[in-house]
Amino acid sequence: GNIMFGPVPTQIGTLQSIVILYLDDNKFSGSIPNGVGNLTTLQDLRLSYNLLSSSIPASLVNLSNLIRLYISHNNLTGALPSDLSPWRAIAEMGISANNLVGSLPTSWGHLQLLSYLNLSQNTFNDLIPDSFKGLVNLETLDLSHNNLLGGIPKYFANLTFLTSLNLSFNNLQGQIPSGGVFSNITLQSLMGNPRLCGVPRLGFPACLEKSHSTRTKHLLKIVLPAIIAAFGAIVVFLYLLIGKKMKNPDITASFDIADAICHRLVSYQEIVRATENFNEDNLLGVAIKILNMQVERALRSFDAECHVLRMARHRNLIKILNTCSNLDFRALLLQFMPNGNLESYLHSESRPCVGSFLKRMEIMLDVSMAMEYLHHEHHEVVLHCDLKPTNVLFDEEMTAHVADFGIAKMLLGDDNSAVSASMPGTIGYMAP
Ligand SMILES: *[C@@H]1O[C@H](CO)[C@@H](O)[C@H](O)[C@H]1NC(C)=O
Ligand SMILES: *[C@@H]1O[C@H](CO)[C@@H](O)[C@H](O)[C@H]1NC(C)=O
Ligand SMILES: *[C@@H]1O[C@H](CO)[C@@H](O)[C@H](O)[C@H]1NC(C)=O
Ligand SMILES: *[C@@H]1O[C@H](CO)[C@@H](O)[C@H](O)[C@H]1NC(C)=O
Ligand SMILES: *[C@@H]1O[C@H](CO)[C@@H](O)[C@H](O)[C@H]1NC(C)=O
Ligand SMILES: *[C@@H]1O[C@H](CO)[C@@H](O)[C@H](O)[C@H]1NC(C)=O
Ligand SMILES: *[C@@H]1O[C@H](CO)[C@@H](O)[C@H](O)[C@H]1NC(C)=O
Repeated sequence: GNIMFGPVPTQIGTLQSIVILYLDDNKFSGSIPNGVGNLTTLQDLRLSYNLLSSSIPASLVNLSNLIRLYISHNNLTGALPSDLSPWRAIAEMGISANNLVGSLPTSWGHLQLLSYLNLSQNTFNDLIPDSFKGLVNLETLDLSHNNLLGGIPKYFANLTFLTSLNLSFNNLQGQIPSGGVFSNITLQSLMGNPRLCGVPRLGFPACLEKSHSTRTKHLLKIVLPAIIAAFGAIVVFLYLLIGKKMKNPDITASFDIADAICHRLVSYQEIVRATENFNEDNLLGVAIKILNMQVERALRSFDAECHVLRMARHRNLIKILNTCSNLDFRALLLQFMPNGNLESYLHSESRPCVGSFLKRMEIMLDVSMAMEYLHHEHHEVVLHCDLKPTNVLFDEEMTAHVADFGIAKMLLGDDNSAVSASMPGTIGYMAP
């Protein structure tokens, strides 16, 4: 807040212990010296309201301890550095009112602590990148007065802390999403985008549905009855299936007992007593899963299984009720499955229960619904990696539950984790 002018001295790169540097509201001109990349201890850098020009030095991104960066109201040009991943600590970024151009980088996903981001009054163009999805702590996002194209990403509604979003004066188009931050959004945050639609409350036109040509209408006249007939057949089939299941009403009772176990600490002694000191006669492989800690992978398996089952809730997934762990003992307490596993039914004459086509169909549906949930409906994609008949267990009602997530993989949705997920389960053999 002075009237200092001229270039920022390049020797600034030698202030190696500096933590806070405020040069804002002066008349500094020229470029931001490359030497700021040397200031590795820097946490708070403010250069706003000066006359700085030329592009943002790439070395600035190297400041991995930086928490606040304000460089707004200058005459900075060029694009943002493409790799923002070293800015792991950054929480506030004010870059507004410059002459920055180009598309927004795709590396935002690494800035998981970012809560304030102001990119307004620049000339950023292109689409809003998908990587904004990764800004899970974002509270304020101002993208107003740029030249952004395409639709408003639906995932903005999913960012839990986002309460202030300004998209005005861009070139965005299409449907305004609903929910989350959009439930309270005002016209001031959306105006100046002439091709947006939806939200009649704010005066936007309704979105036009895609018009069908008359030719497709004729085609529909033939295809539609066929689809309806097929659909009807499926409904009747499902009705038969579900009708059969509804005859067993008392499903909830067993879950109440389960919930009671769920919320208290279970000691090693209790497990010892319950299993009569791990008596072989009580070996079910089901209700309590004890991991062999001599095997190096057991720890990882325990963590993987906890991680998956903690967040997954589905009728056809085995429920984890509790855990017991100390330095050399790890056990998972699972929902008791009195009817054993699919393998024993497939290879045993004395248990004819899975004999009927309908019953087999039901089991297949149960298993595929569990997989469908893990792959498509769970917020983090989970790959089971070891799906086989021994891991399909039956409860009292003979409903199938998928178990054993010891080597499951989480896919976070970005390309890197997809690669790491390629480790196979049972190598060389896959059970039918
Ligand atoms: C960065 O720091 C090193 C070591 O102190 C110094 O030699 C170098 O001149 C500095 N670089 C700049 C651009 O100031
Ligand atoms: C960032 O730091 C790394 C290692 O400290 C160095 O090799 C690299 O040149 C720096 N990048 C820039 C753009 O200064
Ligand atoms: C900002 O930079 C551009 C291009 O470098 C230049 O034409 C313009 O005059 C500058 N504006 C100000 C206010 O310095
Ligand atoms: C973003 O920056 C602009 C220009 O500096 C400012 O007018 C606006 O209030 C800022 N937006 C938010 C949400 O702070
Ligand atoms: C938003 O979250 C819901 C529920 O978790 C999910 O079904 C949906 O796919 C998410 N939408 C986007 C665009 O990520
Ligand atoms: C909407 O506004 C109300 C009242 O101002 C506030 O309590 C609520 O948290 C807001 N919701 C969102 C999603 O911003
Ligand atoms: C969004 O930005 C525009 C233009 O900068 C401004 O006029 C408007 O007041 C802002 N909206 C909100 C809700 O702050």
